[in-house]
Amino acid sequence: MHAFLKTGKLGPSEVKKPSTSKTKQPKSGPAPPWVEKYRPRTVEDVVEQGEVVEVLRQSMSGGDFPNLLFYGPPGTGKTSTILAAARQLFGNMYQSRILELNASDERGIQVIRDKVKSFAQLTASNTRPDGKPCPPFKIIILDEADSMTHAAQSALRRTMERESHSTRFCLICNYVSRIIEPLTSRCTKFRFKPLGQEKIIERLELICKEEELKADKYILTKLVDASGGDLRKAITSLQSVTRVKGKNVEITADDVLEVTGMIPDQWLTKLLEVCQLNDFSKVEDFTDEFLLEGYATSQIIEQLSERIIFSDDFTDKQKAYIGDKLGECAYRLLEGGSEYIQLIHLCCSIMQANQLP
Ligand SMILES: Nc1ncnc2c1ncn2[C@@H]1O[C@H](COP(=O)(O)OP(=O)(O)OP(=O)(O)O)[C@@H](O)[C@H]1O
Ligand SMILES: [Mg+2]
Repeated sequence: MHAFLKTGKLGPSEVKKPSTSKTKQPKSGPAPPWVEKYRPRTVEDVVEQGEVVEVLRQSMSGGDFPNLLFYGPPGTGKTSTILAAARQLFGNMYQSRILELNASDERGIQVIRDKVKSFAQLTASNTRPDGKPCPPFKIIILDEADSMTHAAQSALRRTMERESHSTRFCLICNYVSRIIEPLTSRCTKFRFKPLGQEKIIERLELICKEEELKADKYILTKLVDASGGDLRKAITSLQSVTRVKGKNVEITADDVLEVTGMIPDQWLTKLLEVCQLNDFSKVEDFTDEFLLEGYATSQIIEQLSERIIFSDDFTDKQKAYIGDKLGECAYRLLEGGSEYIQLIHLCCSIMQANQLP
């Protein structure tokens, strides 16, 4: 997350931040993570989210700029899109024209009253110091808005209306249902969809080319499978593999499994086979062996659910029973349940399901 929160005066006195663009890398210091290095610089660079890109493009070319609400799963480009739009709109006035607050900042009602209000009340001129035109408003980005308290969200309602002549708001969240209705109705809503496999592969291929990596399409597909439509996760995994292997060595499927924490298919097959034996001591042995390898139970739950749904070896009734148990185990793990006990429980449930018609 960017740490360029500024609440100060408007004007030309911006602090220069090292650029993360591909073309303008800092000459010294550690290399930026690839998610930052390849963060879209313009809204046109944003992959897949056609609708929002189109609206933003129109708004930037003279149309009215609405209050925005972006929602959708992680790593789909919400933060990148608004940052790119702001950069295009304000050019070198960028840092003084946006106020970005995210969940790591204190965002209770007091902050909304003080920081947001005082930033919103600053006037913004319609020219840049170099004489170029610049839209006469500021943007307040409230990232991860779903973690704001209801009181703070309510406090935002009046501010949003009163400052509409000089300020636009962009609320970003994963779960739109956690934003109060009076706020959602003041914004134009955009749903960010998980990125398609092809699009993620294209992006990874571009990074491989720029970074001169050796990875074939099959390997990239493996990375995409592990990412679930989250481009950030896919890029981070690619960089992790490269850190482990070095740039000049061909990346293999095993390397991908290693960094993504995915469990090799043979373990899933073995688990299902052990459950067929209907012998508790075998289940216990399997569980010990599995956990000794350092694999996570939550991961096997995720992979098993996919495998079982598409499997022809189970009847619908069995699938429904196992699905229910998978959900139960996932929930208990989230609540701090023991990996060992949940895995045993899961295996026993599959054994029971095997007895069903
Ligand atoms: N649609 C996209 N087009 C291009 N790059 C993307 C896209 N989505 C994600 N990325 C890449 O993933 C990284 C993370 O994206 P971003 O921070 O915008 O995700 P987000 O939707 O805000 O996620 P979160 O909900 O976790 O905050 C970016 O730096 C960029 O490299
Ligand atoms: Mg974000």
